[in-house]
Amino acid sequence: MTIKNICCIGAGYVGGPTMAVIAQKCPHIKVTVVDVNEHRINAWNSANVEDLPIYEPGLAEVVQEARGRNLFFSTNVDQAIDEAEMIFISVNTPTKTYGAGKGMAADLKYIELCARQIAKVAKSDKIVVEKSTLPVRTASAIKEILTNTGNGVRYQILSNPEFLAEGTAVADLFHPDRVLIGGDTTSDGQKAVQALVEIYANWVPTEKILTTNLWSSELSKLTANAFLAQRVSSINALSELCEKTGADVNEVAQAIGLDSRIGPKFLKASVGFGGSCFQKDILNLVYIAKSYGLEEVASYWEQVIIMNDHQKRRFAKNIISTLYNTVASKKIAFLGWAFKKDTNDTRESAAIYVADDLLNEQAAIAVYDPKVKVQQMYADLDYLESRTAVDNQKLLTAYPNPYDACQGAHAIAVLTEWDEFKSYDWQKIYEGMLKPAFVFDGRNVLDQKALEQIGFVYKAIGK
Ligand code: NAD
Ligand code: UGA
Repeated sequence: MTIKNICCIGAGYVGGPTMAVIAQKCPHIKVTVVDVNEHRINAWNSANVEDLPIYEPGLAEVVQEARGRNLFFSTNVDQAIDEAEMIFISVNTPTKTYGAGKGMAADLKYIELCARQIAKVAKSDKIVVEKSTLPVRTASAIKEILTNTGNGVRYQILSNPEFLAEGTAVADLFHPDRVLIGGDTTSDGQKAVQALVEIYANWVPTEKILTTNLWSSELSKLTANAFLAQRVSSINALSELCEKTGADVNEVAQAIGLDSRIGPKFLKASVGFGGSCFQKDILNLVYIAKSYGLEEVASYWEQVIIMNDHQKRRFAKNIISTLYNTVASKKIAFLGWAFKKDTNDTRESAAIYVADDLLNEQAAIAVYDPKVKVQQMYADLDYLESRTAVDNQKLLTAYPNPYDACQGAHAIAVLTEWDEFKSYDWQKIYEGMLKPAFVFDGRNVLDQKALEQIGFVYKAIGK
């Protein structure tokens, strides 16, 4: 079966870039990305690619090439479902904030809504692809909804989890380490798997396209994130020990990373991992383990989160204790608000939690981030409900450049590893600050020696 028409439900950080790349690489396939969020769809359609809803290096060029040719963004969900032979579900699956599993389980209400809408609209056979990250065995629930509420149409469910990282999404999609496709072991299931393999084979070498059963594919996605996050928590746990012993975490990371069994990647000590997925997916894994009565398995993985929370909190504590145990009314400049460089995404960013702790001590926070808008910073803080929105606006100010953000500050905290931070005129920044001028480098990105020579008191994670 050769697919000519694809629909993707969900035009977010995954749906947008993945479908843009499929459309660019497969000009013979019509790709329609739909979303209930009209504002987001309008932004995807905006003439000025600077206004796309997501910032990713290289994305604007891909969208520009394919949009209007075989890539379309629309709010007409029903029409796109009706026309497509293959439907990707790429909606959000956040941690539940209510009911059973609150604060841990994945909230599958958006997934279920999609399944019900597909069942209502579809008049011909469909392949439904889980692109969202889902608890293991979700495919059986989707299948049940589709077959029990549909009108006789036959469905095949595939799991095709996405492994892209934000900030490198386009490069990851162009050259994935692997593409994972899980499907039913029946002959119809395998035909559906092959239809999706054929799409990726337009640009991904076939030896990198791995096919498995549904449950292995679903579980591998959660587990991949858990393993990656575990590496960050492992190195962050060591960073605290380094600070006590005089070891340097960068040197330790380099020394252990040269062992090819360990490897060099994902060993960068930091103020803590953020992003929309690591925490949510580990909590989900913990919940799944608990629901099978596997308490030891659950607490093993939970420790990755506990360590990460500790890392964020101790960074804020260190700032407060270094500034003579009071930060009230002191201006503290934040360089970076996004959860990592090269993205405008702030979900679960460590900056939010560090800011929250400092604002509780009535610090005056001055933020500069190259891509995050001030409204987003306030929304992130308001969501925590620690203070009123009015107080957040009083205490936190965003600046259009780093020099104004740091002017008159007692300390600078580096929360994101944006490359441009390294090339600032640090002498000029120093001159504008109150003395002693502190830098708390939460990302280990600045040149310690150069800053100390200027006169800064420099403190980094793990040193
Ligand atoms: P997102 O919040 O950016 O996008 C989800 C979109 O789905 C939103 O625009 C929302 O309006 C839309 N939506 C929700 N319900 C809908 C419905 N019934 N009909 C139409 N549209 C609907 O989320 P995201 O970051 O793109 O993540 C999506 C999924 O992909 C999650 O399961 C996530 O775990 C997974 N994932 C994310 C990343 C990442 O880097 N962000 C990477 C791999 C996997
Ligand atoms: C992560 C995974 O890397 C992707 O493979 C996966 O598809 C995605 O989650 C997902 O499922 O959403 P992402 O969260 O976009 O991608 O970004 P990462 O590069 O993994 O960074 C996550 C966090 O860990 C960031 O805050 C980053 O700064 C931090 N990190 C990463 C470190 O502190 N140290 C490191 O060595 C690496």
